[in-house]
Amino acid sequence: MSSFNIALNFEDGVTRFIECKAGEKVLDAAFRARINLPMDCSDGVCGTCKCKAESGSYDLGDDYIEDALSDDEKDSGLVLTCQMVPQSDCVIAVPASSAVCKTGQSKCAATVAKIELHNDAAVVLELDVDTNAPVFLPGQYVNIDVPGSGQHRSYSFSSAPGDSKLSFLIKKIPGGVMSTWLEAAQTGDKLELIGPLGSFYLRDVQRPLLFLAGGTGLAPFLSMLEVLARANSQQKVHLIYGVTRDLDLVQVEAIEAYTAKLAGFSFSTVVADETSNHPRKGWVTQHIPADALNDGDVDVYLCGPPPMVDAVRKHFDDNGVKPNSFHYEKFTPNVVQKAA
Ligand SMILES: Cc1cc2nc3c(=O)[nH]c(=O)nc-3n(C[C@H](O)[C@H](O)[C@H](O)COP(=O)(O)OP(=O)(O)OC[C@H]3O[C@@H](n4cnc5c(N)ncnc54)[C@H](O)[C@@H]3O)c2cc1C
Ligand code: FES
Repeated sequence: MSSFNIALNFEDGVTRFIECKAGEKVLDAAFRARINLPMDCSDGVCGTCKCKAESGSYDLGDDYIEDALSDDEKDSGLVLTCQMVPQSDCVIAVPASSAVCKTGQSKCAATVAKIELHNDAAVVLELDVDTNAPVFLPGQYVNIDVPGSGQHRSYSFSSAPGDSKLSFLIKKIPGGVMSTWLEAAQTGDKLELIGPLGSFYLRDVQRPLLFLAGGTGLAPFLSMLEVLARANSQQKVHLIYGVTRDLDLVQVEAIEAYTAKLAGFSFSTVVADETSNHPRKGWVTQHIPADALNDGDVDVYLCGPPPMVDAVRKHFDDNGVKPNSFHYEKFTPNVVQKAA
């Protein structure tokens, strides 16, 4: 391989991808891409360029001093970008904002290719990319401008990185700005996207995964499952998909398909509505099989509306559940309902 893709994930959620040539240091590759990562000495002495490698393999060499990067820091995944030479694609968390590093969010122009209503509860929106196809990590989101409203809304990619079309799974909210626009939207309509954004993305898979989705919080998991299937992952993955009403259960066939495409994949659905005839009722936390937690040796990913995310986090805290890692994304509304 003559070059690697390095995702730089800034503190403000902005992600930029750079190409790092074989043998090239990350700091130099970023500089070529006109991104000024924090640095001072560029010699492994000051420690100013310290970042966290979230995934990938790399060589740090032995030309830096212990004061710049201790063995403990190295063992916890910290790196000096002025020394780090990637040996695979990597994701690096940068402890500075994109603005400080003199970079920013990428814009992308897109055209509506398909709008599909599912159960009158959610919409699958498919877009053709006109310019600047966003390169993203599975689990990330973009801000989509709602034409004519002067507002934007955030949506997680449900498609996988590299797919020819971008897709999104969007909850239908009566009277909502995006929902209303989608009702009248047509194939061929133009949209502007800004991103990718977010630190909710699939890390290196080294142990079983537990995915907890609430409603259209399923979207990022569809992207992650596709990436895992394409990588022929053999790791155990259990998804629990919880919704409020029966009709909110959408894309179940798409999930079902991964039981054949992805070794080690299992899932269950849960409906909260007390009047539902669904075999599993209540909340996702009531339906986590004990073995899915693997005595804590599990990476948990959680995504959905804020009350659901908060409830799961509280459940874990109350019950002393301490997974190896815990990542979550809240679908916080842009508009907060005012009290009457
Ligand atoms: C990082 C991130 C990623 C997101 N990804 C997705 C995604 O993949 N799919 C998706 O469907 N949404 C996602 N959202 C939520 C999305 O950005 C919008 O908030 C949502 O689609 C509502 O937009 P709207 O314009 O239709 O309604 P708005 O005009 O924003 O809201 C209309 C009214 O409905 C209320 N409301 C908003 N959301 C809800 C809700 N979920 N349930 C009940 N009432 C609500 C508002 O408070 C307001 O009063 C994400 C949010 C964030 C922050
Ligand atoms: S810039 Fe000083 S250690 Fe990297």
